[in-house]
Amino acid sequence: MGFAGSLSSDQLEFFSSHGYLVIESFSSEEEVGSMRKRMGELLSEFDFSVSSIFSTRNQSLTTDDYFFDSADKISFFFEEKAFGDDGKLKQPKELSINKVGHALHECDPVFKEISYSEKFSGLLSSLSYKRPVIMQSMYIFKQPGIGGEVVPHQDNSFVSTDPPSCTGLWLALEDSTIVNGCLWAIPGSHKNGLVRRFTRGEAGVTFDRPSPSYDQKDFVPIEMKAGSLIAIHGDLIHQSYENLSPKSRHAYSLHVVESDGCKWAEDNWIRRETMPEPLYVS
Ligand code: FE2
Repeated sequence: MGFAGSLSSDQLEFFSSHGYLVIESFSSEEEVGSMRKRMGELLSEFDFSVSSIFSTRNQSLTTDDYFFDSADKISFFFEEKAFGDDGKLKQPKELSINKVGHALHECDPVFKEISYSEKFSGLLSSLSYKRPVIMQSMYIFKQPGIGGEVVPHQDNSFVSTDPPSCTGLWLALEDSTIVNGCLWAIPGSHKNGLVRRFTRGEAGVTFDRPSPSYDQKDFVPIEMKAGSLIAIHGDLIHQSYENLSPKSRHAYSLHVVESDGCKWAEDNWIRRETMPEPLYVS
């Protein structure tokens, strides 16, 4: 078990037919523990007077400069249901944050070391990346009782290059189950191409067309143990439900694109003066 440094032909075949691949025991208990511990420290240092609420359902209404500015910083986003009618947090601040993003992989030494490790490079090399760049990283909490849903989407909508090249790498930092809001995906849906894009213009961000409706019966749950990683094709339709359980579901997620021969779309929500360093150049 674990990751030997490159993917087998069976694993590559599974990824290409299903649009995702789970690698069990990708990260060690120590690595998972170090990320969780570091995030605990970042949370305790966080100034709660500046913040933003995060929602994938209605991003245009909840988007603000704090969100845009987070592209190359460590920023904190609250769960939509974190606040009561009185505007006060309903639970401790550590249990109120939806996610931290979007440049942990550049700004924090612990997350940087893991994100730029040989393991991630080997995985991306196996997926045929020549000059991979991590465009965003997120620590996702899926808090007990209030962890928001993530509606069906494709990562290429949010992280666009021409031609499309995004792969999501999602590392479970706690066991992720049907009960606490694991990922669900429509196997093979990546073969149908990208259905819409999330673009940033003068008036803010918006989708260029409405979401198609999906049959929930087509989604399969992808339960994962802490330390397991899932690689997600940029066109795979995936989602997760609200976490109404008493258990959180922490994860660390990276979105990687090809920078050799693929052009970063200027209307992406992320606008960078300098692009992040590639993991390697082959
Ligand atoms: Fe996603």
